[in-house]
Amino acid sequence: MKNAKRIAIEAALKSGRFIKESVGKAYNVSYKGRDNIVTDIDKRSEKMIIDKISSAFPEHSILSEESSPRSGTSPYRWIIDPLDGTTNFAHAFPFFCVSIGLERSGVIEMGVVYDPMRDELFHAEAGKGSYLNKKRIFVSKVRKISEAFLATGFSYGITSKDRNIKHFRNLLIRSLAIRRAGSAALDLCYVACGRFDGFWEMNLHPWDSAAGLLIVREASGRVTKFDGSNYTPYDKDILATNGFIHNEMIKALSK
Ligand code: IPD
Ligand code: CA
Ligand code: CA
Repeated sequence: MKNAKRIAIEAALKSGRFIKESVGKAYNVSYKGRDNIVTDIDKRSEKMIIDKISSAFPEHSILSEESSPRSGTSPYRWIIDPLDGTTNFAHAFPFFCVSIGLERSGVIEMGVVYDPMRDELFHAEAGKGSYLNKKRIFVSKVRKISEAFLATGFSYGITSKDRNIKHFRNLLIRSLAIRRAGSAALDLCYVACGRFDGFWEMNLHPWDSAAGLLIVREASGRVTKFDGSNYTPYDKDILATNGFIHNEMIKALSK
């Protein structure tokens, strides 16, 4: 899709810079659930992104976290998380991002993730590799869980947090270490550039993983469901690794 990458990058940089300027300033918080907050900054970031994309591609569909889906006439659909890591943002904990994926007939063709605090822009296009600030990136070469630096997340809701605790306990004991940094889209990008060796989470939404999954795959990593079958952003449970530890992780997550 002509211009899509440029439009996505411009939208991510603009909204990301706005989010960064908003850190520590007053904003309104509302609760979507007992442990799930949203701020007016999420919504303002979303408006900036959607305005830009819909004026460039009025015929495209849009699925974005904080607003109702829009259906267009074309096979393209943008999948947007205008602020991934809202709880971090709201506490000035500097680990959050903007995530924009572009899907065509169910297949992710492009992904852009921008971390405004570090000025790190990750992007990938299908078949063209993954990049961090224009430099090609690849997954790590760690071959065993016992040497792996892993990441996970605990999505909102007591039941889903509880379900992940047994995997967390199991892998905490078996791996080198685990981080729970609070932004699934950035966790995926960190697998793509080799900072993490693997990431898993249960109960994600399409906007959390749409861009990051392509960024991992194009960096030579592997992304599947927990049982090793194909993962799409509409699946809930994700396993993303450098490929080398993937089968061992599938086994660990089957327990
Ligand atoms: C959340 C973050 C978090 C993950 C949750 C997501 P949000 O997204 O990615 O790391 O554990 O599952 O919902 O709400 O900050 O956009
Ligand atoms: Ca999210
Ligand atoms: Ca969000």
